Amino acid sequence: MYPLLRSILFQLPAERAHAISMTGLRWACNLAPLRLLLRLIFRPTDAPIRLLGLSFRHRVGLAAGFDKNAKYLRELETIGFSHVEIGTVTPIAQSGNPLPRLFRLPKDRALINRMGFNNDGLDTIVQRLKSWRGKNPDSQLIIGGNIGKNKQTPNDNAWTDYLRCFEALHPFVDYFTVNVSSPNTPGLRALQEPESLKKILTTLQEANKKFTAKKPILLKIAPDLENEALGEVVDLAISIDLDGLVIANTTLSRSGLNTNQAAIESIGLGGLSGAPLRQRSMEMVKQASTRLQGKMPIIASGGIFTRSDAQAALEAGASLVQVWTGFIYEGPTIVKKITKSN
Ligand SMILES: Cc1cc2nc3c(=O)[nH]c(=O)nc-3n(C[C@H](O)[C@H](O)[C@H](O)COP(=O)(O)O)c2cc1C
Repeated sequence: MYPLLRSILFQLPAERAHAISMTGLRWACNLAPLRLLLRLIFRPTDAPIRLLGLSFRHRVGLAAGFDKNAKYLRELETIGFSHVEIGTVTPIAQSGNPLPRLFRLPKDRALINRMGFNNDGLDTIVQRLKSWRGKNPDSQLIIGGNIGKNKQTPNDNAWTDYLRCFEALHPFVDYFTVNVSSPNTPGLRALQEPESLKKILTTLQEANKKFTAKKPILLKIAPDLENEALGEVVDLAISIDLDGLVIANTTLSRSGLNTNQAAIESIGLGGLSGAPLRQRSMEMVKQASTRLQGKMPIIASGGIFTRSDAQAALEAGASLVQVWTGFIYEGPTIVKKITKSN
């Protein structure tokens, strides 16, 4: 069924197809009996896991950038995700880069995006989460808050943007992911330098102490970090007692693609995600996990489409996995398929 729907959706510009699909799912979920039916159809095999002080229904979540504005939590919970990472949220709303900015590479089961942190801004997203929490006190969905900086904020002041997002979202999310690894905000990835990172992360850790219920803070890193730089980031994470790592974001690399060169060049700049990212992402998970020696958990992100991809990530040392591009190619049964035990 999904291959047919996908072939229709793939005729449309990628961002429009995304909006149409989510609007359709929302309509379906507006009718309580249909929502219940969908919940049954998409029901994942639960294998609960306790991690970061939280109870996840199972190990499969939705990566950041899909529900940037926390608009589809009910729908995403209905189709079985154990957790959804909202954002990247910035203090002030941003429209992002001009359209088109999201492209499919079907021959590679990949996407290229240069969205540029388009989001409704902190205040609106906080109101939405507050309303969600009020209406769904029994929801088991774990919500991660992925936070970033506005495009116009200079890197020297970036920590102030992260702090604003952290403090305002704190009561409404279960964990935080600090995003310094998206390729589409100029200069953002320079914040992965140990000195800048330490400033941002320790500022958030200090702020965390002011709240009675502390929230885990994770760091999301780029797959384009050299192995040596990855080692430095991991050492820093250990030295400041960070809570976890998300590995990895999209890559600037275009190597080994099946899509023809002219088509790739005509797409232009952006982060590549999906199957071509899998190998690098898994290598990084393995390297980080060896260095961490179990000191903090890793969430794997990058090219996870199937149960065997997810198993490989767990064997490499991850504790949870997140999907994004796989959701587009595999469809809404992806969580059920990954979690099913045989
Ligand atoms: C269109 C699009 C938008 C994204 N936006 C964000 C974002 O705002 N913040 C972030 O940390 N990651 C973002 N990502 C990266 C994903 O969260 C994920 O780490 C990456 O795509 C690799 O996973 P995948 O191969 O399963 O897609 C985005 C990815 C895509 C495809």
